[in-house]
Amino acid sequence: MRNSEIAISLKGLTKYYQDLKALDDVSFDVKRGDFFAFLGPNGAGKTTTINAITGLSNYQDGEVKVFGYNAKTEYTRTRPLIGLCAQEFNFDPFLNIHQLLVYQAGYFGILPKVAAKRADELLNRFQLSEKRNVKHRALSGGMKKRLLLCRALIHEPEILILDEPTAGCDLELKFLIWDYLVQLNKEGKTIFLTTHYMEEAEKLCKTIGIINHGHIVRIGEKKAVLQDKSLQDVFLEVTGLE
Ligand SMILES: Nc1ncnc2c1ncn2[C@@H]1O[C@H](COP(=O)(O)OP(=O)(O)OP(=O)(O)O)[C@@H](O)[C@H]1O
Ligand SMILES: [Mg+2]
Repeated sequence: MRNSEIAISLKGLTKYYQDLKALDDVSFDVKRGDFFAFLGPNGAGKTTTINAITGLSNYQDGEVKVFGYNAKTEYTRTRPLIGLCAQEFNFDPFLNIHQLLVYQAGYFGILPKVAAKRADELLNRFQLSEKRNVKHRALSGGMKKRLLLCRALIHEPEILILDEPTAGCDLELKFLIWDYLVQLNKEGKTIFLTTHYMEEAEKLCKTIGIINHGHIVRIGEKKAVLQDKSLQDVFLEVTGLE
């Protein structure tokens, strides 16, 4: 990797959707091995930022680097470094969930035999083995969430990007996902997640970034950010709590 210390680097990222400025000069770095929570109310620009990092959407200005590689011009280098657990379900409807994981691995050049074994391990890890041969439509919402995680992990990426990974999950599933993310982070994976649950950010992350109306409000070490009284109004908006 060209820069092994900075996993994600955003510089002056600016994105318009027609007249709407969804990202306004967004700049920050996520260090290798960090557990980064990206907080912001609905419509703040979190998913748009993730789409820029993962190459799913274009932008008008700025630069995104992943381990030193340009995410636009060196996309074939950056994409394999990232596992994306998107906010929406977007599974191929014609494949069973095991096939779906093997196909996904194929995009990253992983041979079917190796991928099949990894898929079995992941399905087992996320308690989906029983559903191995069904299509995703036959899964519950919580199971689909777990399948998203399996798919993000199938090519063993260095960075895991999770867009509200526990939204709509029951407590047991939430804890299962949290434990696994902590373990992955301990093993050295860099984790970037968006969440509306302050508890999630407090429990899991090391660094917090706050975005509002496309602007970065604050990036800092978790404790310092959480203790910053001037941010209380933003926290209330993020969590929707009174
Ligand atoms: N494809 C699109 N076309 C037009 N506008 C869009 C599109 N995607 C997002 N937007 C707008 O860009 C802004 C930022 O949206 P984004 O999805 O990044 O927010 P978010 O922080 O992820 O919110 P949420 O917490 O609800 O997921 C919003 O005003 C949204 O309506
Ligand atoms: Mg979003």
